Amino acid sequence: MMRSEMEQDILKVLVTEEELRARVAELGAELYEKFQGKKPLFLGVLKGSFVFMTDLVRSCQLKSDVEFIAVSSYGNSTASSGRVKINHDLQQDITGRHLIIVEDILDSGNTLAFLKEYFLTKGAASITIVTLLDKPARREKAITADLSGFTVPDEFVVGYGLDYAQMYRNIPYIGVLKPEVYAGK
Ligand code: IMP
Ligand code: MG
Repeated sequence: MMRSEMEQDILKVLVTEEELRARVAELGAELYEKFQGKKPLFLGVLKGSFVFMTDLVRSCQLKSDVEFIAVSSYGNSTASSGRVKINHDLQQDITGRHLIIVEDILDSGNTLAFLKEYFLTKGAASITIVTLLDKPARREKAITADLSGFTVPDEFVVGYGLDYAQMYRNIPYIGVLKPEVYAGK
């Protein structure tokens, strides 16, 4: 039942909490198989991945460590500007590391195309891209995720870490925002 003031802005639920839990467990199991014995580095792309990241690392009981990078490309609009800016850089040397990049959503592909190149120049041994959501309709860069939780239609989604204008990240499911919420912005 939709109750909170925040939830009044949600048009419909796209992925429920139960579906998220089940799929994240599957992704964790796949990563466990793939990285056994390799001590990978989970690298979350802030801010959007922070909820997914906490669930994913706990669903994958590998010897591993975590790191974050914060980037932005959007401002407060709902369409990518195409430019990616690093707001908080890596705090460690990633030379020779097997990276598991954890993203909230792969949309235009600008962010991940930029980050993949960036991490390769920093000496990563391998890069595996895990995205919770994939929105292939709007891809501008030839980039695909190695693992993806759910494919979503070309609608603006929020919740489970994803925001609109920094809000709605704490909604526990993935929902579509009512267009009037961002109309005219
Ligand atoms: P890309 O660079 O266009 O692939 O976009 C990646 C980033 O844009 C994601 O990490 C999100 O932060 C943001 N983004 C793209 N689509 C959505 C959406 O539907 N809702 C919320 N954020 C989005
Ligand atoms: Mg975002």
